[in-house]
Amino acid sequence: MTSVKLSLGFLLLALFFSDVHCWGTDGHTAVCRIAQSRLNEGANEAVMRLLPDYAEGDLGSVCSWADHVKFHYQWSSSLHYINVPDSLCTFQYNRDCKDEDGVKDNCVAGAINNYTTQLLAHKNNNLLTLSNQYNGTEALLFLSHFMGDIHQPLHVSHASDKGGNTIDVHWYTRKTNLHHVWDDSIMETEEQSFYHSNLGDLIHAIQQNITKEWADQVPEWENCAHDEPTCPNIYASESIEAACSWAYKDADEGSTLEDDYFISRLPIVNLRLAQAGVRLAATLNRLFF
Ligand SMILES: *[C@@H]1O[C@H](CO)[C@@H](O)[C@H](O)[C@H]1NC(C)=O
Ligand SMILES: *[C@@H]1O[C@H](CO)[C@@H](O)[C@H](O)[C@H]1NC(C)=O
Ligand SMILES: *[C@@H]1O[C@H](CO)[C@@H](O)[C@H](O)[C@H]1NC(C)=O
Repeated sequence: MTSVKLSLGFLLLALFFSDVHCWGTDGHTAVCRIAQSRLNEGANEAVMRLLPDYAEGDLGSVCSWADHVKFHYQWSSSLHYINVPDSLCTFQYNRDCKDEDGVKDNCVAGAINNYTTQLLAHKNNNLLTLSNQYNGTEALLFLSHFMGDIHQPLHVSHASDKGGNTIDVHWYTRKTNLHHVWDDSIMETEEQSFYHSNLGDLIHAIQQNITKEWADQVPEWENCAHDEPTCPNIYASESIEAACSWAYKDADEGSTLEDDYFISRLPIVNLRLAQAGVRLAATLNRLFF
């Protein structure tokens, strides 16, 4: 009885919030699983200590936590994306990193800096056994989620169409919007077409490409200038560029997106998932070496 009620409630919630901004659960799970497999000893220890018990040691299982608290923590909803002026395909922190009310730093790049700094403070406080100002668990879960979001091209995109949320399209025969295509549909169709709907197999394939296809580029993905622990301005610039050249292109309001769009955009989605995972690990590894 209880479980029926619970799942009905969940279904209603899911329907009600079905157009929220985020990589779908699968995208975030993939990013966090890839990252967790690349942690050094110090970072692994810190992640194990900070993860809530119910995660049972699996960062991937709590990587969508930030979406689930968006309605409870209203203040966090603007931290999932960046709006860039409509005519532009570039990101500039000082111009673009603000929320709808113009409050500076309230964007996904500002949030990545924020939670990286908090984790560093948390680490140093722990060493000195002082009381902590910040909740290290929340900092880890926010950082892990936002590192995914900033790599989804339509999370760094144009304000007037709300990152593609207001661009209605068909994905094959299904009615949806462009943002949802990039959060979920491309990955879903990929999993169904090539991996027997098995997310684990897709993650494994991405990991293989990280060690083979992309091995030459990985050190560059991991690197940040000036010994910074993380460099969200680079990740955001790449995303708005990909939004202009791949996501928005040939996807006007009312389009039907099918094989041509799927096959040509799929490599971008795989690349962004890989980069997000590699960079989340690199950031945590630098913090907790
Ligand atoms: C930084 O983190 C704190 C604690 O979660 C939060 O209140 C604040 O809004 C965050 N700011 C940004 C820009 O992420
Ligand atoms: C830190 O945040 C988590 C998740 O919101 C919460 O369950 C936990 O009680 C918090 N810890 C402290 C010490 O406040
Ligand atoms: C891995 O790389 C190969 C060769 O470039 C490509 O065909 C394949 O789609 C890639 N798979 C993933 C999941 O990135």
